[in-house]
Amino acid sequence: MKMLNNNMTSSYLRFRVFFQIILVIYLGSLLSCNSEKSAIGDPGMKRDNLRVAIEAWNQCNEVYEEAPNMGSPRHADCFDLQKSNHRSNVLCFWFSDSKTNVVAAKLVHLVNELDNKLSINDAKSLGQENLNVDTYAAWKELFLGYKCQVQDEPNPWNFWMIMLKSGNMDSTAAICPKNGKPSQPFPQDSRFPCFGKGCMNMPRIYHDYSTLHSHKEHPKMSKLKGGFHGTWDLDADMSKAKTQNDTSFFSVTWHKTLGKGSWKFHHVLKTSTKYPWLMLYLRSDATTGVSGGYHYETRGMSKMVPKSPNFKVRFTLDVRKGGGPNSQFYLMDIGSCWKNNGQPCDGDVTTDVTRYSEMIINPDTESWCNPKGNLKLCPPYHTFANGTRVHRTDEARFPYDAYHLHCAPGNAKYLEEPFTICDEYSNPQAQEILQILPHPVWGEYGYPTKKGEGWISDPRTWELDVGRLSESLYFYQDPGSKPVERHWPSIDLGTEIYVSSNQLAEWVVSDFDIIVTDE
Ligand SMILES: *[C@@H]1O[C@H](CO)[C@@H](O)[C@H](O)[C@H]1NC(C)=O
Ligand SMILES: *[C@@H]1O[C@H](CO)[C@@H](O)[C@H](O)[C@H]1NC(C)=O
Repeated sequence: MKMLNNNMTSSYLRFRVFFQIILVIYLGSLLSCNSEKSAIGDPGMKRDNLRVAIEAWNQCNEVYEEAPNMGSPRHADCFDLQKSNHRSNVLCFWFSDSKTNVVAAKLVHLVNELDNKLSINDAKSLGQENLNVDTYAAWKELFLGYKCQVQDEPNPWNFWMIMLKSGNMDSTAAICPKNGKPSQPFPQDSRFPCFGKGCMNMPRIYHDYSTLHSHKEHPKMSKLKGGFHGTWDLDADMSKAKTQNDTSFFSVTWHKTLGKGSWKFHHVLKTSTKYPWLMLYLRSDATTGVSGGYHYETRGMSKMVPKSPNFKVRFTLDVRKGGGPNSQFYLMDIGSCWKNNGQPCDGDVTTDVTRYSEMIINPDTESWCNPKGNLKLCPPYHTFANGTRVHRTDEARFPYDAYHLHCAPGNAKYLEEPFTICDEYSNPQAQEILQILPHPVWGEYGYPTKKGEGWISDPRTWELDVGRLSESLYFYQDPGSKPVERHWPSIDLGTEIYVSSNQLAEWVVSDFDIIVTDE
């Protein structure tokens, strides 16, 4: 009897253990089904060991000529904190650690000033004499990416990318190709600002390397801080550029409490008479391949390239100054590339087409797409969230106010009349742009539904269903071609101040993440 009892007990125990294992596996699978997967290297901008880089582009997303003594316009600030239990030198700071009480942290930079100063003049000594000033910048981005690289699954990643661009174009110099083909000089016209020879210069970029400070109010806490700033006005007094009238200026400063919360990226952008069309974005770019608008191999933060419809983008945005009526502030800007026949881009600028879509939240931006006279600025159709598609001539149902404009790729052969071709010069290749405005039709995707939402003194944390929205948007493809899978190698936000001088924009971005949802 005893024996039997024991046997029964042990088989009961075996059953319990077996049952518990099954339960754990079952709960585990439930959790993983619902768990969010981030597509980026630093989900929510929480990682103390920052990785950030900056790039500057001219009107056609190239360099053409470096700014004097500034090197190639690619710079990076990447560091790791080294903890140790002893005070080693003055660079050390003390911070509380719940386990060891006080620990010294030392900030170790991975990119030094020599790396950041690398210029086309160094190409020969680096064995890169075959590169020109444009391809050298692309090479430098890969080099900095290599120095900053973080091993991760499914892919290593590099850095956040701050992007600067000036829209000046010297049309008499024919520097930018037209839809990816060599262009002819033409007289300066109102579309393109230019004050004369050299108007497409790269900005001067200055770097405040990240440092660790003790917190002013809480001496036991430490703060991390760094930044880039500069101007396009090459003759400006940099110490006054921020406040001086008619002097272009940009700055991005990042700061964070050590071990806590998100990085805050504080942006400032100011235009001048000579540089009235400027852009400043914070981008999460793909870590390999070409990204939206950039026809060279790129480095970035997106260790997985998000694919429609399966991703969301989350971030906090605090707009403090709007940048004037022509500031096209992009709550969200997504960039991709595919050919009109549905093939993926391969770097052939004559057939690759950049595709952009942007949600503009400046309430001053009006809908230009309308059925009376400007149908050519409307996409051919709108698809509602429930899948119903309405043609732009259906005046009763088409949501005209949801669109700022649509423009078509300059190399598209079968466009529906009437249409407008996008700027043929402002990209290394042809481009297509679809700009949307706050409207109830986008509410389904978590986007603003009313003008003014998320604008000045209305800071918000957004969770945008960019994946599902971007699946539903109209983009051109040749009739009969297989609809492409839409991958988005560049996801960014920031402002494009369009041709207006002495405008000032200021905003703060934090908590950024791209979340991949299950297929
Ligand atoms: C700033 O400069 C512009 C261009 O020279 C000028 O029109 C404007 O009046 C100036 N503004 C101030 C406040 O001085
Ligand atoms: C889909 O939504 C649109 C706009 O709300 C509406 O007009 C249409 O009737 C809906 N279609 C279906 C099939 O529910």
